[in-house]
Amino acid sequence: MNGSKFLETLAGRRFATPPIWLMRQAGRYLPEYRAVRATTKSFLEFCYTPDKAVEVTLQPIRRFGFDAAIIFSDILVVPDALGQKVWFEEGEGPKLEALTDPAQFGKLSRARLGDFLAPVYEAIRQTRAALPRETALLGFAGAPFTLACYMIEGSGSKDFAKVKKWAYAHPESFGLLIDLLVDSVVDHLSNQVEAGADAVQLFDSWAGVLPEEQLFRWSLDPLVRIAKGLRERHPSVPIIAFPRAVGPAALMYRRPDSFSALSIDTGIGAHWAAKELQPHICVQGNLDPIMLVAGGAALEREARRILDKLGHGSFVFNLGHGVVPQTPPEHVAQLVEIVRNWKPNDS
Ligand code: CP3
Repeated sequence: MNGSKFLETLAGRRFATPPIWLMRQAGRYLPEYRAVRATTKSFLEFCYTPDKAVEVTLQPIRRFGFDAAIIFSDILVVPDALGQKVWFEEGEGPKLEALTDPAQFGKLSRARLGDFLAPVYEAIRQTRAALPRETALLGFAGAPFTLACYMIEGSGSKDFAKVKKWAYAHPESFGLLIDLLVDSVVDHLSNQVEAGADAVQLFDSWAGVLPEEQLFRWSLDPLVRIAKGLRERHPSVPIIAFPRAVGPAALMYRRPDSFSALSIDTGIGAHWAAKELQPHICVQGNLDPIMLVAGGAALEREARRILDKLGHGSFVFNLGHGVVPQTPPEHVAQLVEIVRNWKPNDS
């Protein structure tokens, strides 16, 4: 017993209603986030300023009382720490000085990662101290494949053709980049746990662009290696995997030896997940973020449908992807009410 509904759920305990937190729960849909955000021009500088990162991490907890907080940071702090140039352009999202040649991998180094990301760990230390005991604190990292997508494309992409072409045509050199990222992510997550993160989530946001065999090699295998590496240093830390848009290949990630929970996107049916995933592993998800924009009866119906399918087993309520900026905060409050008031035999 550790007093956290979220952590106890990950450890296999059941409650009358599931714990809830939302990916991207800190962000532009909250006026109080926009106010703090407006005080720093550069997004990365904002991430590296502990008092601001702590404040925006706590904002959604104060407002909605979620069962878990996720430290305010970004997956792209890892390429930044490795020495690749990363910046965020207003209204356009992340930009990186793209890797175009394997020779450039040699310039990346994880030697300074811990020092470089010290402000993130400081923010975790302060957030953990400020949070109520029953609220768990999540650390996170991008999965190697998703990080490689941004590092090779230099931004988001429609089809990630550059990164895929590199992985398919030159698997040896792509493998070297993935190996570096596996080691870097283990370091980064391990540092977060040492600073006070109670659990961690791995975001493989672009896993879904890979066909099945490549998915095994470039998404699942690196995630399993990260889990093993992290558990060597922190044997009991819960790890949540989020391989987005992989469809029925989610079955491959049903690995309770590596992951404590599997976060599913909106494309996976709650009924299928209850039958195929939940008997083996705790499931997290999977409300469509746009339902939170719609609100009202549509939100209520869909949230209850998910609860009716998944609420009887090991389950953490979440979205299928992150909260979008146009979400009315009242709808988030409505969702928390629906989840906390759900009764298994209601419908
Ligand atoms: O969930 C949280 O509340 C914690 C903070 C968090 C952010 N990014 C803050 C952020 C987390 C967990 C992330 C993860 C992240 N970052 C992912 C994986 C999850 C996913 O969405 O698939 C990815 C792919 C990124 C990379 C990234 N960062 C993109 C593509 C963008 C631009 C898109 C956008 O929404 O603008 C960012 C910027 C970013 N990261 C913002 C926030 C709140 C918005 C920028 C701002 O506020 O100025």
